[in-house]
Amino acid sequence: MARVLPLSPASIDDAANALRDGKLVAFPTETVYGLGADATNDRAVATIFEAKGRPRFNPLIVHVADIEAARAIVDLPPLAEAVAARFWPGAISLVAPRRTGTGVSLLVSAGLDTAAVRVPAHEGARALLRAAGVPVAAPSANISGRVSPTTAQHVANELGDKVAIILDGGPCAIGLESTVLDVTGTVPTLLRQGGVTAEDIEALLRVAPVVAGDDDRSPQSPGMLSSHYAPERPLRMNALSARPGEALLGFGTAPAADRNLSPEGDLTEAAANLFASLRLLDIPPWMGIAVMPIPETGLGRAINDRLRRASAPRG
Ligand code: TXA
Ligand code: MG
Repeated sequence: MARVLPLSPASIDDAANALRDGKLVAFPTETVYGLGADATNDRAVATIFEAKGRPRFNPLIVHVADIEAARAIVDLPPLAEAVAARFWPGAISLVAPRRTGTGVSLLVSAGLDTAAVRVPAHEGARALLRAAGVPVAAPSANISGRVSPTTAQHVANELGDKVAIILDGGPCAIGLESTVLDVTGTVPTLLRQGGVTAEDIEALLRVAPVVAGDDDRSPQSPGMLSSHYAPERPLRMNALSARPGEALLGFGTAPAADRNLSPEGDLTEAAANLFASLRLLDIPPWMGIAVMPIPETGLGRAINDRLRRASAPRG
């Protein structure tokens, strides 16, 4: 079983050593908990796919401590430099062409000639990356297709027998995964809505990013597969009340709600509460989860994106 260790200089050292030994370490970021492995170690990266039951065609995000380390792995075009300067460290991952000879395992790219890189803002995560001294490949620390973890306990419940160490940094501040922005072409393309909003990106670049795969025909990013982020029970969106057997997940004023993402109707608070709330309602006696309408703006887009995938037909 994993050792669950509160974040401290000593636990960060232990975790960094475990990473360098090719082991899996779960660690907090400001978005969700990551399942980390040394990105330069093929066997360690392969272990991530096994632990999560993740399809090999789904590439991983490489986490680094600073932008210089990112530039060593991918070619950041001017557009990407601007995005990084504005939002890193933070909740956005950039998909850019891989450099050759970097030592980063080809497995992280799942056969693509690009890699996703991110400098997380969480101080514990960055301390771990600095101590490890290697880039760290880290998907969300959940079984593939399921809800991402926002506490160390979520990770322990789902992957406790698969990782060496779980660093416990408390609940994640943002609670939704990073935005994935493809900067390989002339137009930036949003592959996944996330912690940095489309509005934030548009305000910086003065053009709205293209939103990829809204139709889901040709997923450019496998995180866009329709059923994903899913609780066990069926989920119904835009519900005004619960049907018999359903739990009601509220947003805004909702006296009948079994839980409420944000009684004040605050999207940042709702994002932070989303995944933990879905887990708490995904238990007997409830047979389904009904979620009240969330406005399609700012972080609400990312929340609705996750809810749409959670409510999609299961494959
Ligand atoms: O917030 C986050 O991004 C968290 C924390 C741990 O950093 N990580 C995370 O990883 O959510 P994961 O593996 O669950 O999601 C990564 C997403 C997937 O949708 C994947 O398909 C996409 O990024 N992705 C990674 N590399 C890519 C690439 N080279 N091209 C296109 N999409 C890529
Ligand atoms: Mg994930």
